[in-house]
Amino acid sequence: MRIALGVTGGVAAYKAAELTRRLQQEKLDIQVIMTRSAREFITPLTFAALTGQKVITEMFGKESNATPNVESAIEHIAVAQRIDLLVVAPATADILAKFAQGIADDFLTTLYLATKAPVVVAPAMNVNMWENAATQNNIATLKSRGVHVVDPDEGYLACGMTGSGRLAGIETIAKEVCKVLGLRHDLENETILITAGPTCEDLDPVRYLTNRSSGKMGYALATAAQRRGAKVILVSGPTDLQTPEGVDWIPVRTTKQMREAVLERAKESTIIIKAAAVADYRPVAQSQQKIKRSTGEHLVLELEPTPDILAELGRTKSSQVLIGFAAETENVAASARKKLTTKNADMIVANDVTQAGAGFDTDTNVVTLYLRDHREIALPKMTKFQVADKILDQALELRPQTK
Ligand code: PMT
Repeated sequence: MRIALGVTGGVAAYKAAELTRRLQQEKLDIQVIMTRSAREFITPLTFAALTGQKVITEMFGKESNATPNVESAIEHIAVAQRIDLLVVAPATADILAKFAQGIADDFLTTLYLATKAPVVVAPAMNVNMWENAATQNNIATLKSRGVHVVDPDEGYLACGMTGSGRLAGIETIAKEVCKVLGLRHDLENETILITAGPTCEDLDPVRYLTNRSSGKMGYALATAAQRRGAKVILVSGPTDLQTPEGVDWIPVRTTKQMREAVLERAKESTIIIKAAAVADYRPVAQSQQKIKRSTGEHLVLELEPTPDILAELGRTKSSQVLIGFAAETENVAASARKKLTTKNADMIVANDVTQAGAGFDTDTNVVTLYLRDHREIALPKMTKFQVADKILDQALELRPQTK
């Protein structure tokens, strides 16, 4: 996940370096933006060294540039679009006023107006400035617009006064950022084996049988599980997707390869989720040469069933939670329930792939979770990432030792 950290000018600006390190522990990619006055308190070099990224300090490139840099001038739009959250810490009375009034006179204020990502501000200032009606009105305005405010702590202030205005603790700010981003660490003790994408069964050196799985559902599960702290093993058929960071990625092509990879890693896993669309049949014989076209003649392919990996896992599993998917075009509930028992799974995630926004190669899915205790949890249309989190929540509930 990518976030922007805005640092504004106050004595607490140095604490933003500590916040950067803390947020990096959450595996967040951080783009630091400093206002001109922040640079009076701490240098951009500190943040560049911590993040390994250029720190944005100017709207139009370097101050010394005679000609404004066009790329920099539109950078705020690019940053605004790619971030998942903007956090400003410390946030001065000045920046809060500008945010509240919609003034866009530097990079940070322009970014604030341009982004649709959630915003967290952690104010820090002199107690009288904090208590001033103008600041309190600005805070109320920002809150009413959905900005998350981490209230300052009380205590001894840099100005020599005592009262409210100290930057909230780094952990408090980090917790708020995690909460707003929906980051949880509830899967830290789990090793989750996920299969994704299609399998391909070769007919000859140039042709193969496959299906329309893009891998999006399985990759969303892998990403969500990794973010929630699980060790993730992702066994993937061919897809165009980027490998999620920090997962143990095992690329496979055929059902046979997927079976071997899954069985090899199943024992070390605590949860297994089979989101892959495995080819149910493969050619009995694979031609070593390209099959020639003969005019007027039908070509009959003889197919045999592939090994049912989910059923095999169901037969051999010990304490693992085993979750299968069911891609159905009719009789969804009956088919899902049948798969639950015949494959000895703990849960089946059924999607009616004929429904709009569900199933193959979409960014959303519409699923019902079928459980062994006869519960059926029908979820509305959601992004595949949201569906992934719901499946993981349920998986965790099924884990005996984490109950
Ligand atoms: O990849 P996307 O484009 O995001 O699409 C997502 C999806 C539609 C592929 C996904 O949501 C889904 O439904 N995956 C399962 C597809 C499927 O193969 O369903 P099935 O009903 O044919 O199989 C039932 C279960 O048995 C599945 O968990 C499957 O992985 C498993 N299986 C099937 C055959 C086989 N030989 N071995 C298996 O393990």
